[in-house]
Amino acid sequence: MTAPGGLPQHIAIVMDGNGRWATKRFLPRLAGHRQGMESLRRCIRACLDRGVPVLTVFAFSSENWNRPADEVSGLMELLATALAKEVPQLLKDGVRLHFVGERAGLSDNVRAGLDQAEQATASNSRLVLNVCFNYGGRWDIAQAAARLAAQGQPITELALHQAMAMSHVPDPDLIIRTGGELRLSNFLLWQAAYAELFFSDKLWPDFDEAELDRAIAEFNRRERRYGQTSEQLLPAADERKLA
Ligand code: IPE
Ligand code: IPE
Ligand code: MG
Repeated sequence: MTAPGGLPQHIAIVMDGNGRWATKRFLPRLAGHRQGMESLRRCIRACLDRGVPVLTVFAFSSENWNRPADEVSGLMELLATALAKEVPQLLKDGVRLHFVGERAGLSDNVRAGLDQAEQATASNSRLVLNVCFNYGGRWDIAQAAARLAAQGQPITELALHQAMAMSHVPDPDLIIRTGGELRLSNFLLWQAAYAELFFSDKLWPDFDEAELDRAIAEFNRRERRYGQTSEQLLPAADERKLA
């Protein structure tokens, strides 16, 4: 939650449009994913500069396994390379990494890389970076419910929240999707309940500081009512009631 005019405390992004960025340039889709990594690096820097404490990005969905095998293996390689290349700088910048998603489907090599990166950055606290990889909102809700059921615990909102893969951070204030599509594609279904949504026509490799600032400015124009009326949100209304 944020005060009006404040910075979103948690920004989540569906980084979409890498494939189209590449196709427009007659390049293989993987070149778009590589350029998408550059864009992510710039976005992390921008969040650090602005003091955003939590950034969550959607990097690979439960459904992305349905893509051609060479694109899937290319994305796995890209993740492995990025882990090796980026972690030292993230460590220096005070970024704490979390990988959110099902680990079971990933190779031993990738899994070990994720564990190492999480451990290496565990004492950082300037920016929490959640990378949703092999993630789906439905998977998260189902795994949390299954865990509670196995423990014989009642399934309440609070218990589900605590059993979910994103329980270490507050819900996102602002969800940005690039690439022009107006859908969530199974991202943060539970946590999106009261997020403000911002859809950008920019393809993810073209997303820059200016577009991030546009999203934040738009966020600041929204009135977050959480089911209440506008009048209830005005402090003056409370004072009048007291008088
Ligand atoms: C998002 O870009 C990255 C992943 C889903 C891994 P896309 O690859 O979906 O790009 P478009 O939507 O085809 O342009
Ligand atoms: C959502 O993008 C997943 C990621 C950005 C990782 P997709 O490109 O997979 O979404 P759809 O298929 O267009 O809904
Ligand atoms: Mg896409």
